[in-house]
Amino acid sequence: MERPQNQILTIFGASGDLAKRKLLPALFELFMRRLLPEKFRILCVARTPMTTRQFRESRAAELSAAMGEFHDKQRHIDEFFETVDYFSFETADTEKYTSLKNEIDRIRKQYSTGERTLFYLGMPPSMYTVTADGLKACGLADENSRIVIEKPFGSDLESARLLNKKLNSIFSESQIFRIDHYLGKETVQNILVLRFSNGIFEPVWNRNYIDSVEISATETVGVEKRGAYYDSAGALRDMVQNHLLELMTFVAMECPPNFKSDSVRDEVSKVLASLRRMDERAISKNVFRGQYAEGEIDGKKVAAYRDEPNVDKNSTTETYVAMRLFIDNWRWGGVPFYIYTGKRLGQKRSEITINFKSTPYTLFAGQCEGRSCNSLTLRIQPDEAISLRFGLKVPGKGFQATQVAMNFNYSSLADITLPDAYSRLLLDAMAGDSTLFARSDAVEAGWKFVDPIEKYWEKHGGEIPLYPAGSDGTEEAMEMKLEHLNSVCSLPIVNELSSNIEEKA
Ligand code: BG6
Repeated sequence: MERPQNQILTIFGASGDLAKRKLLPALFELFMRRLLPEKFRILCVARTPMTTRQFRESRAAELSAAMGEFHDKQRHIDEFFETVDYFSFETADTEKYTSLKNEIDRIRKQYSTGERTLFYLGMPPSMYTVTADGLKACGLADENSRIVIEKPFGSDLESARLLNKKLNSIFSESQIFRIDHYLGKETVQNILVLRFSNGIFEPVWNRNYIDSVEISATETVGVEKRGAYYDSAGALRDMVQNHLLELMTFVAMECPPNFKSDSVRDEVSKVLASLRRMDERAISKNVFRGQYAEGEIDGKKVAAYRDEPNVDKNSTTETYVAMRLFIDNWRWGGVPFYIYTGKRLGQKRSEITINFKSTPYTLFAGQCEGRSCNSLTLRIQPDEAISLRFGLKVPGKGFQATQVAMNFNYSSLADITLPDAYSRLLLDAMAGDSTLFARSDAVEAGWKFVDPIEKYWEKHGGEIPLYPAGSDGTEEAMEMKLEHLNSVCSLPIVNELSSNIEEKA
């Protein structure tokens, strides 16, 4: 990988959790791999008054505590933090941005970093427009600047449009990087390589051979310290509108003519434009929500969602969504896509399964008799893997079939550790490559699909179905789940994909 050109990375909201847990560790990873620009400075900006020295010391101690031991660890961490400056600043006051510009000019001069600047808005979304205005007012939003914003990109179609309009009035679309950390995951990027670098999958990757597709991202964690944000968002906005729809587009898109950013993102947008919009009747049959009640995870009692800090005691916000959707185009017409996501479920797993149609009739004893007997599973995380399921002759006399799987585990790639999603995406943003970032039209298309569901829930509010923490979700979703489960082979697989690498080792 090439190093991006010299630049300054300015992180707004640098005293927050995102900078601490994701951005600084990811930048340190890039620093260790010598992938940062040759002349590079990180300017951390936040309200808290603090000197650069104090900031460096506190962040270095946290980073050191979060890292495992390795040779010369402290020296590397200290060297990394020498590239970091801190600037205390009231972001909400657009008048004050001149002082930020002066600081950036000083750094540019002192370290010869050149004109390029990447602004990372790691702050609450309500601050995006005022920050963009401030950058414009002081002249920092010029053709050498780029801006990264975190999801959520709006909270519905209207607010997303307003945000896009505002950002597009200051920056060109190629300067805006809407980050969705799922697209930074190696296993997600590999969906495209698996599909488009092999000749064997594409011919069967359509409605003629595929019975259904399942995309799930389940978590065991609750809302952690983000009760206030989550209670106004819910699982549909937090996970489905972005991560799960992005996964769906990678599974469903056509092969782009080349791997240029807009060619790939054109195909993503076409899939989203083909999503079947649901009316109220369709929503009632195809979309199910739920909220976790108290329960047990890994043998420990966990609180109900409504008892989490900063969550309304009577909240009807969904922490679980199960959904069946359809893509109305020639490749996918009639193929159900099942989506499952939720917090405080029985296991943490993000996975895509393509269920292929069965043989026209059954020839062998023991052969699977379901609608779908072969499947390709792409395990996104954890225990990243790919598994192809098929029938095989039981060795010995006669012709008895059994179910086996051909498994590839990423852990078997010696000497390769999967890079962190944020380090990949930060590197791409520094290099100006927006292939793995959401374009404005895709964001709006996602909201167009999701908005009617939010509206339906608002209208039919009332009580929300509960599920015990540690379970598989709500009973209300069961009928749909059963339709799905009944169509796929239920026979045991002889060599099931391991769900625990250590156990296997
Ligand atoms: C974030 C959501 O975008 O993704 C969180 O806001 C969620 O609620 C997280 O926990 C899941 O990410 P991952 O990479 O752990 O699947």
